[in-house]
Amino acid sequence: METHVPHVNEEENEDPGAAPYGNFINYYTFNPPENRLSLIPETLLENIGLGSELVLILDVGCNSGDLSVALYKHLSHEDAPGSDFSKREVYLLGCDLDQDLIFRAQNSNPFPQNIQFIPLDITDDPESRIVLESYFGRFGCPRFHLCTCFAVTMWVHLNHGDAALLSLLSRLASLCEYLLLEAQPWKCYRSAARRLRKLGRSDFDHFKTLEIRGDMAAHAREHLEKQCSMELVQSFGNTTWDRSLLLFKRR
Ligand SMILES: C[S@@+](CC[C@H](N)C(=O)[O-])C[C@H]1O[C@@H](n2cnc3c(N)ncnc32)[C@H](O)[C@@H]1O
Repeated sequence: METHVPHVNEEENEDPGAAPYGNFINYYTFNPPENRLSLIPETLLENIGLGSELVLILDVGCNSGDLSVALYKHLSHEDAPGSDFSKREVYLLGCDLDQDLIFRAQNSNPFPQNIQFIPLDITDDPESRIVLESYFGRFGCPRFHLCTCFAVTMWVHLNHGDAALLSLLSRLASLCEYLLLEAQPWKCYRSAARRLRKLGRSDFDHFKTLEIRGDMAAHAREHLEKQCSMELVQSFGNTTWDRSLLLFKRR
């Protein structure tokens, strides 16, 4: 049986020819939810003043839903039913462009009352905006309280270019009060492009012409702070794959 080496990152370890959008199957066997969750405090919602009765979370690029479900449990204190937190209602919407991954997420969803998974390409405007606005609108909210975007930015950037990366960040900022972002560092881009070349496939459409390169977390921060009225409020440190987890807040 094939085993994955845990210390290498997804772009080294997987075949981007088969997963050109990062839509890896069995992603969580080599990057388990714990790698990210261990950095995120269980009390995150309370810490940022979201201890209120209703909290809406959007997880963009949720893959097969493992991290979304684990995050929901982590933040909603599902495991502590007698606690004060049990009065609070947390709802999570996970979206991903890969229909098959979404089927898997839907079929293994342990909390269908509170967690929903839908197929959606976040770069598809106005479709994605309409769908997401209608979700929080149903709850009478002007936006999501928290949006998480783990390991998605590089795939949008490689497949659609600089402008698409910036509009993804702007879109996310417009959809939420808080944004928790894990942007892949530049070395991952090189690995992803190299692997594609090794397979004899043409390079990602935009790789060579990307002007936004280098410190990707810093670029994301600059755009969110200068163009999207957000500010960095906390860094939760780096994952085992050396990626920072940054929390931004709407100003
Ligand atoms: C590397 S995986 C990360 C999965 C998950 N966020 C995590 O960190 O555990 C990237 C995911 O982003 C999804 N994705 C890529 N581009 C997307 C887009 N434009 N809209 C929605 N999902 C996208 C892929 O299908 C894939 O499941």
